[in-house]
Amino acid sequence: MISPDQQQLVASQFGPRADAYVTSAVHAQGEDLQRIAGWAAAQKPMRALDLGCGGGHVAFALAPHAGDVVAYDLSPDMLAAVAKTAAGKGLANITVQQGRVESLPFPDASFDMVVSRYSAHHWRGFDAALTEARRVLKPDGVAVFADIVAPADKLCDTWMQSIELLRDPSHQRDYSEAEWHDALQRAGFKPGKPFTHRLRLEFSSWLARMATPPVQADAIRALFAQAPAEVRAYLELESDGSFCLGSMVMEAWPA
Ligand SMILES: C[S@@+](CC[C@H](N)C(=O)[O-])C[C@H]1O[C@@H](n2cnc3c(N)ncnc32)[C@H](O)[C@@H]1O
Repeated sequence: MISPDQQQLVASQFGPRADAYVTSAVHAQGEDLQRIAGWAAAQKPMRALDLGCGGGHVAFALAPHAGDVVAYDLSPDMLAAVAKTAAGKGLANITVQQGRVESLPFPDASFDMVVSRYSAHHWRGFDAALTEARRVLKPDGVAVFADIVAPADKLCDTWMQSIELLRDPSHQRDYSEAEWHDALQRAGFKPGKPFTHRLRLEFSSWLARMATPPVQADAIRALFAQAPAEVRAYLELESDGSFCLGSMVMEAWPA
């Protein structure tokens, strides 16, 4: 058997779950999404790009404030679901385009606003993607990055990345605030101050959204049963396995 590469693994994990990501309350709401909409209202971008659009919630939040929005993702199934939902919402200024974030099929300086939410932790090339985001952004444009954020504490970081990987083998890494800051600077951005909040994940729907196989769900339960006090406290672990992670959203400007 030939093993899939990371890009194929991402597409095979997300493709069959497109509808679950369109309807996911975790993805359709959130303080980060409200901030993104507020920044879009201030920026009024002629062209905006949603990198790793998934079920399209960022694109839907940008569309009322933008001339045009390109919803961009690896998964053709996700893009079909986004196009259908956008049409249902009457958002005629959203177009979809398939590809990988590490190599964007757009000219230099072609967007006023580039946003990515809950996608970067899958990217095979984190630095390459941020460099591409910077390349396609206009000099007076703004980028916004939002994702689950790793704790600085190494013990909690290891546990968090482990349960993420068991739930979804296309997980690469949740980055810490310091890792985001350094990577954005390397890519030619001036990072703003991250806004962080806690995101509660209800255990059964968190597993169901990614169709985690029972053997992996059991492994997560087994880890939770052995988690040390520091990890339980960090995760705010509940008796049914529900827990909280840190989430951050930040603006970044061309340096
Ligand atoms: C959790 S979903 C994104 C959620 C969405 N942005 C939102 O705010 O609701 C992650 C998405 O990232 C996409 N993705 C992961 N790695 C990618 C890559 N290297 N290039 C393009 N898209 C990628 C996946 O296909 C998936 O649709």
